[in-house]
Amino acid sequence: MSELTPEKFFIRDAWYVVAWPHEVTSDKPLARTVLGDDLVLFRTPEGQAVALEDRCAHRLAPLSMGRIESGGIRCMYHGVKFSVTGQCAEIPAQPAGHPNMCVKHYPLVEKDGFIWVWMGNATLADPSQVMDAPWHSDPRWAPSRGYLHVKAHMGLVADNLLDFGHLPFVHPNTVGAVEQAAFATEVKPLADGVLTDRWYVDVPASRFHQSVGNFKGNVDAWHCFRWHLPAVMSLDSGSAPTGTGAREKAHGTREGAIEFHHIAALTPQDGDHTHYFWVHWRNFDVQDPTMTQTVYDNIMMAFSEDKAMVEAQHAAVRRGSHTAPKAIMADKALTMIRHQVAKRATGAS
Ligand code: FES
Ligand SMILES: [Fe+2]
Repeated sequence: MSELTPEKFFIRDAWYVVAWPHEVTSDKPLARTVLGDDLVLFRTPEGQAVALEDRCAHRLAPLSMGRIESGGIRCMYHGVKFSVTGQCAEIPAQPAGHPNMCVKHYPLVEKDGFIWVWMGNATLADPSQVMDAPWHSDPRWAPSRGYLHVKAHMGLVADNLLDFGHLPFVHPNTVGAVEQAAFATEVKPLADGVLTDRWYVDVPASRFHQSVGNFKGNVDAWHCFRWHLPAVMSLDSGSAPTGTGAREKAHGTREGAIEFHHIAALTPQDGDHTHYFWVHWRNFDVQDPTMTQTVYDNIMMAFSEDKAMVEAQHAAVRRGSHTAPKAIMADKALTMIRHQVAKRATGAS
């Protein structure tokens, strides 16, 4: 279906999460495909994380089969060495400095527990635009982290995250509750994303929140997020005993509540696959590794429910249909983001 072509729905001039810091080492290069480009990621012995095109300039062997050396990487086919900026540093038995013997270099930023890559015009890459994740270094919050490889176009994975109307139906036994279906989402457009507010008042806690919060009665629960183009969600969520004024208080300070902050970073591999990096911070039992595992297990269980639905949807869309998709009121946020992405994406007029 043409609406899922990479050309139409991928923004190249943007920062994307490409890896966790621990994946990029000086022992072994890492091959990863982003927006259809094959990258090799590695860390120099000096500690610098680097991304280059995963094709040697000589005869296109993958540099991810190469050897990391001080200041660069050596192709292990015929031994040409490239610097951290992709310039030719050495050709065996030949003077270096061949002007065309270079590979594409991709700017990287390592910050707050993520490594971000810039996939577009390198002269436009501004590291100050990489979003902050202050929970990473705040001892009041403890993270659980995970990664999913989703066999679906990033647009469909983003739609799923932008649509909390699916929670009571896809996740009634994990992070959703059937009673949440009665509540609508408030959506505010921004220049580069949306802000949403979704509150459920006086409802039973979701099974996940009940299991870690041990609530005696109903709760007020919330999902409130800021979406950053192209595809990063920064979400506050939690449950508090109903009637304790949770909505009026700042996130992280609510009485008797369990509160979470979540970052979901989507990175297209190509038109049919998406890298999905997530961190779910909590503000309770922060020293307890068992709780870290419990949160991880619950979130992964919920995300596998999403994965199953979105992968099936992607396959159905790819097989084609005589029917075009139609919007309902709950699609407000995802419709706004689809418009914003289409406006900025490669090739958009
Ligand atoms: S292909 Fe890399 S050195 Fe020949
Ligand atoms: Fe979901």
